[in-house]
Amino acid sequence: MQLSDKKATLSFSDGSPSIEFPVYQGTVGPDVIDIRKLYGQSGMFTYDPGFMSTASCESGITYIDGDKGELLYRGYPIDQLAQKCDFLDICYLILNGELPNETQKAEFDSNVTHHTMVNEQLHFFLRGFRRDAHPMAVLTGLVGALSAFYHDSTDITNPHHRHVSAIRLIAKMPTLVAMAYKYSQGQPFIYPQNDLSYTGNFLRMMFATPCEEYKVNEVVERALDRIFILHADHEQNASTSTVRLCGSSGTNPFAAIAAGVGCLWGPAHGGANEACLQMLEELQANGGVAKVGEFMEKVKDKNSGVRLMGFGHRVYKNYDPRAKLMQETCKEVLSALGLENDPLFKLAMELERIALEDQYFVDRKLYPNVDFYSGIVQRAIGIPTSLFTAIFALARTVGWIAQWSEMLSDPDYKIGRPRQLYTGAQTRDVPSNRG
Ligand code: SDX
Repeated sequence: MQLSDKKATLSFSDGSPSIEFPVYQGTVGPDVIDIRKLYGQSGMFTYDPGFMSTASCESGITYIDGDKGELLYRGYPIDQLAQKCDFLDICYLILNGELPNETQKAEFDSNVTHHTMVNEQLHFFLRGFRRDAHPMAVLTGLVGALSAFYHDSTDITNPHHRHVSAIRLIAKMPTLVAMAYKYSQGQPFIYPQNDLSYTGNFLRMMFATPCEEYKVNEVVERALDRIFILHADHEQNASTSTVRLCGSSGTNPFAAIAAGVGCLWGPAHGGANEACLQMLEELQANGGVAKVGEFMEKVKDKNSGVRLMGFGHRVYKNYDPRAKLMQETCKEVLSALGLENDPLFKLAMELERIALEDQYFVDRKLYPNVDFYSGIVQRAIGIPTSLFTAIFALARTVGWIAQWSEMLSDPDYKIGRPRQLYTGAQTRDVPSNRG
């Protein structure tokens, strides 16, 4: 980051001495005011619950322009990456900062492919869950449990160990997600097959059975690969910030990624794709398009507690570029599968049309986000609603581990330890009549 010639001065109305802070510029986007010395010089903290105006770190991985609705992975616009690359290209890019050449891609693909199996003992770990356990509960457990199997790469200060952990996590997430699904179906686990693509291999582990060979549908493979690309990273979102904060204690990467899985599960975050499809199915069952107006009135009534899931975003105050690409993918997959008249897609399009014309949404700059259409595509592919967020976690693992590694490669990184505004009880004695 570059020191700006601008300075920021904080003055106090009670005549306390003002304090001057350096301002830093990034490549693009808002400058930052470096307030690290604020507490030492003023005895005061800043106050920013939800981190609405706080940059928690310096990063070179992903840039979002919320007003323009732009998303860049290492400087490349998401629409170009989604059209011209596959998911492992994106993994290489996010991890290394550049798109791979042919040789680098072949080596990276082979490295990932040859790490897709998991220790056989994990099969027994799974058996401890009820068959109807939510896949995110299973995945949180499985990812955390990986730390029990890889004692050979736990030196997080060693870039090679961090790279090995990154490859293992990227490679094994599809296997773990597919195992969670097979377990819920009471079907045997399907082992990875090395002659398939990353995404084709995942589809086969999900839907093949020992009884017959599974042929990967290329349209579905491409669509799911694009879904992975769109979910790969997203700057300092809640789950990535969780991974960074968890990793800042020096814990192992598997524990840090498990923490990210847990955070992503929430309906305000990655759980929104599951909640959005449930919302659409409920609306469809209760009158569909004819009832959209009534539903939207509920959404606008604060007391109803109803939100239009898949809409709104902390950063995007314009259309989420991923939602546009997801809508296109929806159309491609539905027509390829002969589902052009999918009622849920039509309902979603109608909801979007009405919302984008409604003053409540216009005033609050609420647009569809990545979760609004992703559930419709995944449902068309045959993925159960309860697995949507696990798929999101599968794709986001590369972003999480790249951000974790970026943090640890900064020699000045510290353990994250926010402070607070305390409004609790003052010091008081325990009543003498106790004890
Ligand atoms: C993801 O951060 C990331 O980058 C996340 C993500 C990623 O890739 O990592 O992009 C993935 O999490 C996408 C977001 C998925 N969540 C949802 O779709 C759930 C529904 N949306 C929200 O609950 C909400 O929009 C958030 C959580 C996404 C953003 O919340 P903010 O920034 O805290 O905004 P807010 O809740 O303060 O809302 C501002 C106003 C409020 O109204 P007022 O109090 O100003 O009158 O907009 C309203 C909100 O009530 N509002 C909504 C709404 N979202 C916001 N009203 C109805 N429906 C909605 N969906």
